[in-house]
Amino acid sequence: MTRYSSDSRDRVLDAVDMLSLVGARLELRRAGADSYFGLCPFHDERTPSFHVRPEEKHYHCFGCQASGDPFTFVMETEGLDFKAALESLAERFGVTLQTQDEDPAAASRRERRERLYALLARAATYYGRVLWESREAEAARRYLLGRGMTEATLREFRVGYAPSAWDRILRASRAAGFSEQELLDAGLVQRSRARPGQVYDRFRERIMFPSVDARGRVRGFGARAMRDNQPPKYLNTSENELYQKRSQLFGIDHARVVAARAGKMILVEGYTDVLALHQAGLRNTVGIMGTALTEEQVSELERTVHVLELCLDADRAGQDAMLRAAQLAEGRRLELRVVPLPDKTDPADLVERQGAEALSDLVQASIPFVVFHVDRILDRSDTTSAEGRDRAAAELAPVLALPPSALREDLLRRVSSRLELSEGRLAALIANGGARARNGGAASSPAPQRASSLDPTVRNERAFLVLCAALPGPGSRALASIDPEQHLTSERMRRVARHLAGQTEMPLGGLAPDDDELARGVADIVARAGRVERVTEDHLEQQRLLLELSRLDRAIRRARGDSGGEVSELAREREQVLAGIRDLDTKLEQPI
Ligand code: UTP
Ligand code: MN
Repeated sequence: MTRYSSDSRDRVLDAVDMLSLVGARLELRRAGADSYFGLCPFHDERTPSFHVRPEEKHYHCFGCQASGDPFTFVMETEGLDFKAALESLAERFGVTLQTQDEDPAAASRRERRERLYALLARAATYYGRVLWESREAEAARRYLLGRGMTEATLREFRVGYAPSAWDRILRASRAAGFSEQELLDAGLVQRSRARPGQVYDRFRERIMFPSVDARGRVRGFGARAMRDNQPPKYLNTSENELYQKRSQLFGIDHARVVAARAGKMILVEGYTDVLALHQAGLRNTVGIMGTALTEEQVSELERTVHVLELCLDADRAGQDAMLRAAQLAEGRRLELRVVPLPDKTDPADLVERQGAEALSDLVQASIPFVVFHVDRILDRSDTTSAEGRDRAAAELAPVLALPPSALREDLLRRVSSRLELSEGRLAALIANGGARARNGGAASSPAPQRASSLDPTVRNERAFLVLCAALPGPGSRALASIDPEQHLTSERMRRVARHLAGQTEMPLGGLAPDDDELARGVADIVARAGRVERVTEDHLEQQRLLLELSRLDRAIRRARGDSGGEVSELAREREQVLAGIRDLDTKLEQPI
């Protein structure tokens, strides 16, 4: 542990220019000698109550009572501890910190580490130069730019290229005075098995993503294969004293300050996802590199933000990762939200295909983790049998044990309708932790009551909307051809349908920020649309006819109730619709 000499704090404090430090974050207006006002960075406000005295190097907010000196300012706004704030300010204002009371062993350990950091930084610079300047990297440049990443973004993240030769880093680093042992310790070379005593470059013919820590130091690399037959797809630095994959958050050096200010961090899986989101203007994004969010990462994030937006793949692994994230977040002051990604799409793909806007819309439409969790249990459950519903209720009981809130009410309503349980009975199940359903099984549970919504009719309506979203072109024509009042029975589906009409290309666009209900409805449809495979216009047409059939059935029932006059006309129409549905059935069964 480095300790700085006792005058460090005062020397840094002397050097700090309070106006430029605070002014970098908020606009300051002069109000008098040694007196400036601005909008407080620590709470939301419209009229400035944040007061700064640059000479005194002090700030005070008359609104939220935040106050302090440059150190607390950096600690609070950037989520750093005192020592890191001291180091950050020293660097920014050109003060060289002197260490104190360091025993010789500690001093040499620190010096050794500093050499390793320097070596890694040089390696990153070298790989970067190769990417932009060498002929060999031509294909890599074309590939990266072809995927929509701009040169500015790639340079910002210091992306590079490792040439195919086996000794480039080895030679260059040796020439710069680094030993073989240091190269091994930094994870840049490895020992040859075929030729004992020989070492060679670990990274060859790969795109290099430097893994940089919060303080801007390169700790290791993630190296992407250029060819399919070049496993693994990503070769990472092997675990060493500087690089532990479980502690890294890719992009944290660029994301932290923005995230601290926004109060939330977006979590994605991959290197390219981080680049895509930053390029899209969502700068509070970090990558967890693979799927397992770790204790170390959560601890680091917790110091900076209180909301995590999980933007992980919708596949099984991604969903499991979200559940694990929730376990890790439990008991911490972290709120988890889930960004509904279409299946088999990662954020980078989405930006590439649909643009930055589509992704920020999705992030806007994120749902509380508990909603995601409940939906996932419902989706996996067999709700067609009483046993299945009981099992689902038992599984849901602990999840739904939330403090009273509008969200809880909403979830209870949804669950009770899906599981065909009255809300009262569901509440009872939750109150006793689902014990009854778990132990009693189907035989002892009373007959479930009929659901009021998401009956087969509504399910059909939903399926239609899902297909419309899955096939934007034909979908918008199909939506134009129906009358939501007539063809849809559920008010919720009607609202989604009205929103989707003319919006199928970008379904999550144009949502009012305060209409959570609609946003959830649309997000649900979009997520389901992402999961459908191999659908054609014929499927959509058939689904549209099914709505028409339901509409006619309702009209026929009404007509019977009235006079019976128009029934035969309606029945003829119904026959035609039914015939159309059957024709499509036959057609769709043909092998393609
Ligand atoms: P993905 O396979 O989803 O790759 O792995 P990706 O990020 O979408 O990469 P591109 O867009 O095809 O270039 C997600 C993340 O998992 C880690 C990497 O951090 C990767 O970004 N990973 C994946 C590994 O560490 N090793 C692997 O072999 C594969
Ligand atoms: Mn990808």
